[in-house]
Amino acid sequence: MDPVKLMKQEVGQAAAAKVTSGSIVGLGTGSTTAFAIQFIGERLASGQLTDIKGIPTSFQASVLAKQHGIPLTTLDEVDRIDIAIDGADEVDPQHNLIKGGGAAHTREKVVDSLADQFIVVVDNSKLVDVLGSTFPLPVEVLPMAVAPVTRALQALGGQPELRLGVRKDGPVITDQGNMILDVKFNAISDPAALEKTLNNIPGVLENGLFVGVADVVLVGEVQGDSATVR
Ligand code: A5P
Repeated sequence: MDPVKLMKQEVGQAAAAKVTSGSIVGLGTGSTTAFAIQFIGERLASGQLTDIKGIPTSFQASVLAKQHGIPLTTLDEVDRIDIAIDGADEVDPQHNLIKGGGAAHTREKVVDSLADQFIVVVDNSKLVDVLGSTFPLPVEVLPMAVAPVTRALQALGGQPELRLGVRKDGPVITDQGNMILDVKFNAISDPAALEKTLNNIPGVLENGLFVGVADVVLVGEVQGDSATVR
């Protein structure tokens, strides 16, 4: 297997191994979490895990969970999430995150914040000294508010760009029917303050800063033909 894929698989499996029987599990979005979902399904099928219910953070996570035989529930039906497993696009030394590379950060923030234990699964390329240094910050915006929110973000010193579809003309539409502005801030010196400021702009649904939410960060690293997790 390609070593990067192998590394994502190992990190995903290490996180999935932490799930215990009887748990409500937040299921994140992205290629690394996909391996965790697959492994939870395998543990269920083998009888190693029982009585699991998943809460997906996106349409894609719910498709994958169904594919791997994980029963799903909703926040209307349960009042707790025991553990959530999710990827990230940047992780700083305090374990604050930028998320939303898959346009799923709004639901991810609901699920990951509610979890008793939130485990982040990343490869070492996601580790940064200061958030915003490599990845533009995703901001989910109501379609009718894209123009004023763009101006508000520019006034805050950001460079917003409407995210466009890869195999589609026009913008990416989120699972909630909204649009994404990817905002370059270069270096985000106070993520907690910026998170609040952005969410105060009328028309902004949620931004991809996750401050003080992660409990554990599992980092995968490629070493030659193999991979390690720390
Ligand atoms: C989804 O919106 C993001 O928050 C993902 O968790 C993130 O993009 C990580 O994806 P990979 O595991 O594919 O890098």
